[in-house]
Amino acid sequence: MTKLTFTAELATEIKAIDDDHKLLIDILNSLQDEIDANTAPEKVGSTLVALLRHVEEHFAREERIMERYGYDGLGMHMRQHQQLLYTAHVVHKRFLDDPASVDLSELGAFLNNWVIGHIAGPDVTFAKSIKSFSGDRTSPDLRTVTVRVPADRIDTILRCAMILAETNGAEIELAKFVDTIGPAVPNPAKR
Ligand SMILES: [Fe+2]
Ligand SMILES: [Fe+2]
Repeated sequence: MTKLTFTAELATEIKAIDDDHKLLIDILNSLQDEIDANTAPEKVGSTLVALLRHVEEHFAREERIMERYGYDGLGMHMRQHQQLLYTAHVVHKRFLDDPASVDLSELGAFLNNWVIGHIAGPDVTFAKSIKSFSGDRTSPDLRTVTVRVPADRIDTILRCAMILAETNGAEIELAKFVDTIGPAVPNPAKR
């Protein structure tokens, strides 16, 4: 099978993510070499473990970045990560129980297609979305605050926080947004 390469269409231009993806491609190419060379199952098994570990760390890193930036596609993206991890763990367990039961060529092709499709699609999309924020999220003037709010107000609070963090003339934008949600509903518990 043709080796995977890190092409421009896979670049998210977020260094930590691109470095992870390059390593992921290296591991997939090593796995493919071992499959093509009919390498002993023990060696293929250890490459699969390295792949799983790296993928788990990488997915967690991506999800932390999406969370930090309030990316609204986080839930859908996490589900795609979880589905891949579930499938990979099931196949890995089957391989450990009986290596001959796993068609490694099929597994290699599946992983290559999934990874390239996922990076070029959802990963590049989320990176573009994060970069379109006008605010500088790394500015030392920004602070993280923790507040406890009712679950049904989380979206509203997040929206307000994002307006404040990202927009020039934030107060005007915030006032417009507050107009759209109407007056606060009195909390019956306080009466
Ligand atoms: Fe990724
Ligand atoms: Fe991803």
